Amino acid sequence: LNNDLERTPAMGWNPYNAFLCSTTEEQYLTAASNLIDTGLKSLGYEYFNFDCGWQGTNRTASGTITWNETRIPSGIPALGQHVHGLGFKFGVYSDAGYYSCDFVNGQAHWIGSLGYELSDAKTFTSWGADYLKYDNCYSVIVFSFPSSNNADSSKSKPHYTAMRDALAGTGRPVAFSMCEWGVQDPARWAPAVGNSWRIANDIGPPPSWDNVFRIINQVVPITGFAGPGAWNDLDLLEVGNEGLSVAEQASHFAFWAAAKSPLLVSTDLTSPAESTLTILKNTRIIALNQDPLGTSITFKRRYTNDYDVWAGPLADGSTVAVLLNWQNSSRSLTFDLSDVGFESAEAIDLWTGDNLGLIKAKQVVQLTLYSLPF
Ligand code: GLA
Repeated sequence: LNNDLERTPAMGWNPYNAFLCSTTEEQYLTAASNLIDTGLKSLGYEYFNFDCGWQGTNRTASGTITWNETRIPSGIPALGQHVHGLGFKFGVYSDAGYYSCDFVNGQAHWIGSLGYELSDAKTFTSWGADYLKYDNCYSVIVFSFPSSNNADSSKSKPHYTAMRDALAGTGRPVAFSMCEWGVQDPARWAPAVGNSWRIANDIGPPPSWDNVFRIINQVVPITGFAGPGAWNDLDLLEVGNEGLSVAEQASHFAFWAAAKSPLLVSTDLTSPAESTLTILKNTRIIALNQDPLGTSITFKRRYTNDYDVWAGPLADGSTVAVLLNWQNSSRSLTFDLSDVGFESAEAIDLWTGDNLGLIKAKQVVQLTLYSLPF
């Protein structure tokens, strides 16, 4: 989206993969402190985002969207001020349909923004919103999550353009994160509508290596649609959550970074495992994600059911290559440089920073993957 925002992918935090739609004010406040105490904020994780469940079940008498007073007793404006005071950007969440995705006592009726785009954009910006994640429940799709993946874009798109235009009309810069899951081929139209768009259904919870595989396969044909201000969103990170081994978490993180997906941490950071912070704080992988050229890696080759080779250009003229091990074990594998178009190259391992020296034409290089701790 041409609004001068997200010239590199958004980095930050979102509660959903850890706390689902029942995140409390206390959990939000704790997470904000944790992001500072762990050092994540100072490494660039700057968007502090809300997800489902903050809303009320009814609008005010005058039709204004409002919050759930039990869950967020201080109110959203006060929390927005608080996170701004800590130096974060503040992200809110709403839905392109009548309701948002979660259920209240078995009934779906957290407020959505359909039909209230102008009013809600004004309200969100009056609360200081810098970012809006815009979900897609109860919009045009018969609710069949997560099986629906074919909804007609022509019906969904107007709900997203309406909110894009409403946000633009407020005059406040607000990054627009489209969560239009279930819609067919969003990459064909979303770059002009959102700063990022979801390319697939949810990664979890619970996460699984199968979900990571599914999402990576779904990005294969659309890597070329990503660029500054408009990113393929592979979904919230699962680093730190149960369901993926540490090696799988590292692979997931590195791939998301290289595909220029937003990097939104979505775990409980109260007492994170050492591996969680080792992965999330790798400055070389973060720099790869934030590279100013903003070009995603593209798929180069799959050694069937074994490993993938992906590569893409970086701003300094170098190339990043990603080797992705599909086997369920740590091991060495061979890297044929010609798969990424080179005859020889000086190589650096981005996980460790180790200089691998000159790799010569068609030389086979042994790389040990997943050698945690780095
Ligand atoms: C959808 C989104 C998720 C999350 C949930 C909340 O499933 O894709 O990221 O926001 O809604 O219910």
